[in-house]
Amino acid sequence: MARFILNGEQREVAVDPDTPLLWVIRDHLGLTGTKFGCGIAQCGACTVHVDGQPVRSCLTAVEDVEGATVATIEGVSGEAAQAVQTAWENLDVVQCGYCQSGQIMSAIALLSDNPRPTDADIDDAMSGNVCRCATYVRIRAAIHDAAKSMGG
Ligand code: FES
Ligand code: FES
Repeated sequence: MARFILNGEQREVAVDPDTPLLWVIRDHLGLTGTKFGCGIAQCGACTVHVDGQPVRSCLTAVEDVEGATVATIEGVSGEAAQAVQTAWENLDVVQCGYCQSGQIMSAIALLSDNPRPTDADIDDAMSGNVCRCATYVRIRAAIHDAAKSMGG
């Protein structure tokens, strides 16, 4: 049995402790906004927040989030989340969309920690999030835009 808070709600799931958090979120709890890309922590599509930090849910065993607070794209909230969502819309960042929930979760975590990131900070924080559609320039611009709207 795994127990953790997901998007503000206490959840209990009867799974093996080594089940990847990504499977639990998608298959057992039905939240499909978090994507499976590579399964080996190389693409960032599966990024969620665990106690506010971005983690790759494909390689995180559910036992490692026992008692933790997990947020997915469906439930992430707060000033940075709002600012990122608005900036993503304003700059029309999304192309096919597959990588974008992971990109957004990484961007929110970055801005929550560092409300005035430089280009180098952005490249560093976002380097684990791959986009096959190469939306990187718009992502960087949108993060700056979100920072500005947060007063950064
Ligand atoms: S699916 Fe987790 S990093 Fe690619
Ligand atoms: S928008 Fe298509 S993979 Fe990133």
